[in-house]
Amino acid sequence: MTTATTTATQTATDPLALIDVDHVRFYVGNAKQAAYFYAHTFGFNISQVADLTTGSRDEADYLLTQGNIRLLLTTPLSSDHPAADEIKLYGDGVKDIALTVFDAKAAYELAMKNGAVSAAEPRTLSNETGSVTVASIKTYGRAIHTFVSRTGSFALPELKKGAPFMPTFRPIESPVNDYNKAHPCGLKYVDHCVGNVEEGKMNHWVQWYEDIMGFKMFKHFDDADISTEYSALMSKVMASGNHLIKMPINEPAQGKKKSQIQEYLEWHNMTPGVQHLALRTDDELASVAELRRRGVDFLNLPDTYYDIVWDRVNKVLTENGHEAVREDHDRIKDLGILVDADDEGYLLQLFTKPLQDRPTLFFEIISRRGSQSFGKGNFKALFEALELEQERRGNL
Ligand code: FE2
Repeated sequence: MTTATTTATQTATDPLALIDVDHVRFYVGNAKQAAYFYAHTFGFNISQVADLTTGSRDEADYLLTQGNIRLLLTTPLSSDHPAADEIKLYGDGVKDIALTVFDAKAAYELAMKNGAVSAAEPRTLSNETGSVTVASIKTYGRAIHTFVSRTGSFALPELKKGAPFMPTFRPIESPVNDYNKAHPCGLKYVDHCVGNVEEGKMNHWVQWYEDIMGFKMFKHFDDADISTEYSALMSKVMASGNHLIKMPINEPAQGKKKSQIQEYLEWHNMTPGVQHLALRTDDELASVAELRRRGVDFLNLPDTYYDIVWDRVNKVLTENGHEAVREDHDRIKDLGILVDADDEGYLLQLFTKPLQDRPTLFFEIISRRGSQSFGKGNFKALFEALELEQERRGNL
């Protein structure tokens, strides 16, 4: 069953009402170099930095921006920085899904009252032009959510126009930013953020998002029969009250072979974490074409995928009175893009290979034509493709 869920409108009176995804923070071994990877391959601008030159003595932070996506790459400058231990355990990956709220201290206090575990108590960074307040709670495994509230020149609308991210940041001019302007990748915002948790713990974390964050289960097409012999995963989707962010939670299931969730955990010190970020574009074909041209390593599909996809997808669309897939079918095949449909419409999606040497974090590039689901119909095709990749890594 599919439903377009509607929930009560949250207002500023609810401290856990989310305004935006403030940023996604990665812990990486070398932020200066990682910044160039994400800039050159995915079209992110290297916008701002806080490092030794701005008085940051313990870590370097690079703010990368594209559309309404803000990635913050953090690297420790000494071995006693907590990120140093995490990089040793997990390699490069996502540490923090930070959320903009009206009052970070109030959001933190309510989450704590709801039973959250603290990761960092509220603190305010300010100068004569405004302030940023941050406070963090732990979620699954090594991941945290930081609540961020902003005033004055640091307010979100100003940040989107290029104002400083926080008081210690300075802007960066880079030729890669000019190149990206001339050759846009078209990525607009974070569509969803998927976490992998331990076997048997999915429902625990579903409950956690309900109790602590006030999220609700997102009802959608994928709900029934999500675990197939191919997928070897169980997944439920949690959504914030205004559907600003959707957070599917996966746990490994018994399949024919070792699941990708299990592989992730084994290369992530058996610790839950963020598996993928789905980045939304309005034009899947243009985005994927540009990303491929830049050398993004996407998953390869079995050739047979396109023998059956149009019948599968167009049958669902016709049955539900929707237009057929309007994008050029041959170009979709040439670009290796995945297609799925449900009773609300269709979506186009494609997954990258892991973004670092460990088979952990990856990106998804997604565009939606009505469909609000996550591509369940592609699980079988995808798993066949993923298994081939796993086999090549000797991890099956
Ligand atoms: Fe996804």
